[in-house]
Amino acid sequence: MSASFGAGNGAITVPDILARKGRLLATNSPAADSASRKIVCLTAYDTPTARLVDEAGVDIILVGDSLAMVVLGHPNTLSVTVDEMLHHTRAVRRGVRRALLVADMPYGSYHVDGIESVRHAVRFIKEAGAAAVKIEGGERRMDLIARLVEAEVSVMAHIGLMPQSVHALGGFRVQGKTLAAAEQVVRDARAVEAAGAFSVVLESIPRELAAEITQELRIPTIGIGAGPECDGQILVLHDMIGLGPERIPKFSRRYANVSESISRAVSNYSDDVRSGQFPSDEESFHLSAEIRERLHATKQR
Ligand code: KIV
Repeated sequence: MSASFGAGNGAITVPDILARKGRLLATNSPAADSASRKIVCLTAYDTPTARLVDEAGVDIILVGDSLAMVVLGHPNTLSVTVDEMLHHTRAVRRGVRRALLVADMPYGSYHVDGIESVRHAVRFIKEAGAAAVKIEGGERRMDLIARLVEAEVSVMAHIGLMPQSVHALGGFRVQGKTLAAAEQVVRDARAVEAAGAFSVVLESIPRELAAEITQELRIPTIGIGAGPECDGQILVLHDMIGLGPERIPKFSRRYANVSESISRAVSNYSDDVRSGQFPSDEESFHLSAEIRERLHATKQR
């Protein structure tokens, strides 16, 4: 398996991501070559932000079902549909050239029937241009993951806090804190690897547990609220750029305040419109002197 990026066009592939695992164990300094560094992942939901995230050199872009909360205004991820996820995955596809594009399968799209689940997954690859899909669940998704892999669909698994199980879990809570719960997360990690997932997201679990799992698995772990020992990290773009609610999860970090920039721009624009300072003469189109005269003359008749 080659650890070099791309299949000739510079795009990152599933084997590239898998190959990072062995190399990550060997070296992880910032000076290491790009194939040896931690895997950087972010979400995106539309073309312009996907383009920016891709051009900044992120390895994996996830069209997360967090779309429901951060873009569509729902209280959780449960209500977003396959069609909505496909629509946004297509938009992101148009902005991405290099990163590996992964699409989240929404709640209900892989919970009812095996054949229907594979059909939904295939739509993300075939109709929206995703390179892989992400599904939540460990041991109980083993059969489905194996089935998807057999259908040539690469799978990123997601265990620990699974937002699609928010009601069953009683809220967005850290998982794996008791011995029994930690053992379940380990079993889930082993199960998704055995079933053929190419990577696994570990969400909101204690750092020490994520470190154990990362040491043991042969596939990369991608942490979100799972400490620094994971092979890669993912955040929700809107949380890290400050576009959304003031309060962000404890595990997130704000790298920009885009809300402030947008508010300032809109308020300046409003002031300029109200005071007549926008648009200026330079921002206006002009009639030639001749047409202006003739128009004026017609109006006099
Ligand atoms: O939906 C999402 O954005 C996610 C990531 C945060 C892992 O599942």
